[in-house]
Amino acid sequence: MSARPRQLHLNAFLMTVGHHEAAWRFPESSLLGAWDLQHYIHLAEAAERGTFDSIFFGDGPALQGDPRYRPVGRLDPTVLLPALAGVTKHVGLVATASTTYNEPYNLARRFASIDHISNGRAGWNIVTTAGADAAANFGLDEVPEHRHRYERAAEFVEVCLKLWESWEDDFLIGDKAAGRYADGGKIHPIEHVGRFFRVRGPLNVPPTPQRHPLLVQAGSSEDGRDFAARYAEAVFTAQQTLEDGQQFYADLKRRIAALGRDPARVKILPGIVPVLGSTEAEAQAREAELARLQVAEYGLKQLGSLIGVQLTEDDLDRPLPDLGPASAVQGHQSRFTVITDLARREGLTVRQLLVRLGGGRGHRTFTGTPEQVADTIQHWFESGAADGFNVMPPLLPGGLDEFVDHVVPELRRRGLFRHEYTGKTLREHYGLERPDNRYTSVRKLPEVRAV
Ligand SMILES: Cc1cc2nc3c(=O)[nH]c(=O)nc-3n(C[C@H](O)[C@H](O)[C@H](O)COP(=O)(O)O)c2cc1C
Repeated sequence: MSARPRQLHLNAFLMTVGHHEAAWRFPESSLLGAWDLQHYIHLAEAAERGTFDSIFFGDGPALQGDPRYRPVGRLDPTVLLPALAGVTKHVGLVATASTTYNEPYNLARRFASIDHISNGRAGWNIVTTAGADAAANFGLDEVPEHRHRYERAAEFVEVCLKLWESWEDDFLIGDKAAGRYADGGKIHPIEHVGRFFRVRGPLNVPPTPQRHPLLVQAGSSEDGRDFAARYAEAVFTAQQTLEDGQQFYADLKRRIAALGRDPARVKILPGIVPVLGSTEAEAQAREAELARLQVAEYGLKQLGSLIGVQLTEDDLDRPLPDLGPASAVQGHQSRFTVITDLARREGLTVRQLLVRLGGGRGHRTFTGTPEQVADTIQHWFESGAADGFNVMPPLLPGGLDEFVDHVVPELRRRGLFRHEYTGKTLREHYGLERPDNRYTSVRKLPEVRAV
């Protein structure tokens, strides 16, 4: 019997009523869907019907975007996910939370709680939060420097890991007759004293099904890649071309191996915005309709927040001006590179660039039939560019339903994707093991950075 071919991993990246900035203008879109629990229950159930590994919500502690032109703002995903845990059984639940604007104790506790509530389906997308709007909500005049944010993030995660491991698995005595509940010797203060944090511990939540949430990372700058290589178990990334995807994949796997970790145990998922139609013409018509409904003023503001330079309507029919090197950007360094490369490579005017960014803000948009979408997913997967995909439907809920009903069956037919869940926890969906505990480990944990 031949071995089962390597399996794809699919994560549904869910955003309000769709990733496309004009999604809300479609007749079927709900104007207030972004605040409606039923909307998210529908999405979580659809992803589970499609045996997705996980659903995922981005987040940031600021009103991003401009409410004059689209529904912006979001529910706190660490509050939303427990509600979705109650109506699903299998699908993984990944929330974004910032290491720049939180304290490790609060967050370690919150994710441990979600892991218990969901029976081991929690994931944490670790972000350092690039935007100035967030800094202004926390008493800061400007965004903390890029390098500083990643240094804080590393210590933040180290503290969280110590807290999640502060209880040994066999802490429970449970002797009702003798009145002994737990073995105090198996619950350890962490006594962390570092550059950014002083935390005594232990955590006030006992060990969870996964010990700690799946650690996800999504920044692709030099600092971001080093951080991912050290801590991430899944990596979300924005890559426009197969060559860029292959280069990123090889580079990150090399960095992971250099730290003594197994590269196969870190899953890389580029984003794809699938604009679907039952025929090519239908898909193209939908793409054209999405572009027609875009508002240039909004697109310029969003571009400004991604590249750190505010262009005006006078720039619309000109090429993107020279913006200097990515290394000088204090915000989203990797997204800056993706966007400026795209504009140069294809010789786009700013107006054309705005159309290309309308669906995924730098993530790759692919327009076609379900078979064509499955073809490109398979091609990237088999060409060393991806272990799976971060699926970003332009319209929600319709775009996710269509993907589940038409693309997933095609991927299953090709033997690339599961027909049913075989694991229980999110980490099992991604083919990963429950992490060791530093007090009981028989295997050597990867050496951690001194903090
Ligand atoms: C798929 C994906 C999702 C992201 N979601 C968030 C998010 O929810 N909140 C956030 O602050 N940043 C988010 N980011 C941004 C990254 O965390 C990171 O800040 C950005 O890519 C710039 O990082 P870099 O300077 O290391 O390239 C996301 C990035 C990607 C690729």
